[in-house]
Amino acid sequence: MSMDRRTFVANTALSLGAALIPRAGARSSSFGARIEVILDEELGTISPNIYGHFAENLGAVVYDGIWVGQGSKIPNVNGIRKSLVDALQKISAPVIRWPGGCFADSYDWKDGTGPAGKRPRRTNFWFGDPLVRDLGNVPQKFDPNEFGTNEFVQFCKLAGSQPYLAANVRSLPAIDFYRWVEYCNSPAGSTTLADLRASTGSKEPLGVRYWGIGNESWGCGGQMTPGEYATEFRRFTAWVPGYREQLSLIASGPNDAEFGWTRGFFQGMLQKGPNALNDIWGLSLHYYAWNLSRGRTQDWFEGKGDAVNFQPVEWYELMKEADKLESLIEGHWLAMGEADPKRRIKLVVDEWGPWYKPGSQVAPTHILGQMITLRDAVMSGLTLDIFNRHPDKVTMANCAQLINCLNSLFLAHEDRFVTTPVYHVFQMYAAHQGAQAVRAEFLCPSISYDRDGKPGSFWGLKGSASLRANNLAITVINPDVSQARETSIDLLGAEAQSGRATVLTHSDIHVHNAFEAPDQVQPRSEDWKANGRNVTYTFAPASVTLLQIKLV
Ligand code: AHR
Repeated sequence: MSMDRRTFVANTALSLGAALIPRAGARSSSFGARIEVILDEELGTISPNIYGHFAENLGAVVYDGIWVGQGSKIPNVNGIRKSLVDALQKISAPVIRWPGGCFADSYDWKDGTGPAGKRPRRTNFWFGDPLVRDLGNVPQKFDPNEFGTNEFVQFCKLAGSQPYLAANVRSLPAIDFYRWVEYCNSPAGSTTLADLRASTGSKEPLGVRYWGIGNESWGCGGQMTPGEYATEFRRFTAWVPGYREQLSLIASGPNDAEFGWTRGFFQGMLQKGPNALNDIWGLSLHYYAWNLSRGRTQDWFEGKGDAVNFQPVEWYELMKEADKLESLIEGHWLAMGEADPKRRIKLVVDEWGPWYKPGSQVAPTHILGQMITLRDAVMSGLTLDIFNRHPDKVTMANCAQLINCLNSLFLAHEDRFVTTPVYHVFQMYAAHQGAQAVRAEFLCPSISYDRDGKPGSFWGLKGSASLRANNLAITVINPDVSQARETSIDLLGAEAQSGRATVLTHSDIHVHNAFEAPDQVQPRSEDWKANGRNVTYTFAPASVTLLQIKLV
C-alpha cells in the first residue's frame, strides 16, 4: 500500500456518525426528486444468483485470499480462511465461479485432485504479470495445486454457495470436461473418478450444476470466431450426463458491446437446427468499467484511472461507464431474441466491476488487486440495481472478483483481513434476493459536472424496488458527490406502515477500509418515519441507501 493512502486513511477524521446527515458543504437541491413505486407492475423474480461472485486462480484470490493452507496459524477450516467464510455466510452469497477467467482455459482439473503432497506444481496463466515476474517461486506464479475441485466445493459449502465451474475449452479435449463432470457428480463408489474424489474426503457427489463452457473464447479462451466457438460448444456439450444434476451450461458470450459475437454464436448454433439451442442455459457477458479518460483514448492501459487518488470528474466517469451495462444487457437481449424468441436462454453477467491502474494492491503478489473505495461501493449498488431492473433477462451475475482482485468484497494478506465497502453493498442488497421486482420510476434533475472544461452530466437518482409479502425494499443511488437529494416517494397501490433506512456513505469520497482502519466505511441503520401513500426521504450525497418499508 502506498504512503499516500496510509496518510489518507490516517487523516480521515470524520466519524460515521455524520453519515446520515448531509455533510458540511452539501446543499439540498432546490429541485427535489420523486420516486414512484408501482406495486402492481411486477417485472419478475430477482434471481438470488445475480448476487454471485467470481474467484479466479489469479494473484492472491486463492493463495493468500481464500486458501491459507492446512496447518496455518491463521484461523481456517481445512485450509480455508475462516473469517472469509463467516463473512460470506452473512450476505447469503448464492454462487461462486472458479477457476477462471482466463486461468480456466489453461487449467487441468486433474492437477487439483488426489493427495495434496502428490499434486503437480504448474505455471499459472498469470505468471508473467509484472507484479510477480521477478518474485521467486510464489504460488501466484507456480501453482502448488493445493486448492483443487474438492477444496473449492468445500469452500462453497461452508459459505452456503453453489459452485459454478468453468471448463477448459482452449487447451483440453472435450473428454476432460465430460470426466470433470463425472468426477464431481457421479454417485459414491460408482466410478474410478468417484473413488478419486472420495480419496480426499468427498465420498458423496459434489453436486455441481453450473458449468461454463470456456471463458472469453473470443480472446484468452482460444481466439475463436463466434462460429468456431459454436462448433466447440456443441462438441463439448453433446451427451454430457449430469448424474443427479440438471446441468446448467453457460456459453462463453460477448465482451461489452460485441453484439456480432452474440448474433454469430447463435447463428452458428442454429446451423444444426433449432434444437441445438436446447443445451444452452445461459450466455455469459463480461463488462468492466475502466475507461476514465473522458474520451481521450480507448487504450486499455492509458484509459484507466487511479483506484484511490481521483477527482470528482473521475467519480462521475466511472458511474457513466458502469451505467452503460444497462444498454448492453438490453442490446444483447435483443440479439438473443432473434434466435431464441421463446426467451429460454438468459444472460449470465459473470464478470463485472471497475478496473483501475495497478498501484493500490496491498501486496506485490496481488495481481489485479486494487483498493476499494466508496466510489466502488456506489458503482456496485448502481450495477446491482441494473440487474434488479431486468430480472427477466439476467439470471446470474458474478462480481469480479471476490477477494484481493478488482472489485473485491474482501482484502486479505497473511493474517490480516478486512471487508471493503463493496461487501456492505452486497449485505444491504441481500434484501432483494428472490423477491419480486416491481417498477420504480425515478424523476430527478441531472447532475452537472466539469468534464475538463466542458459540461458533463449524469442522472441524479436511480435505483430498484422489490416486494416480498408486505415488505418493500427500495435501493437508491445518489451519485452526487456533494448534494443531498430530498425525495418524495409515492407508493402506487399500497400504504406504508413503518420504515427503516440503511445508508452507506462518508464525507470523503475516497474513503476505504484498510487493515489498520477497518471501520472507515460502514452502513448505518435507523428507523425512519414512513406512513401512508406518500413518504419522504433525503438521500445523502455519494450514497447507497436501502429503504425497507412495511406495507399495511
Ligand atoms: O477478471 C480478470 C480477467 O478479466 C479474467 O481472467 C478474464 O476473463 C477477463 O478478461
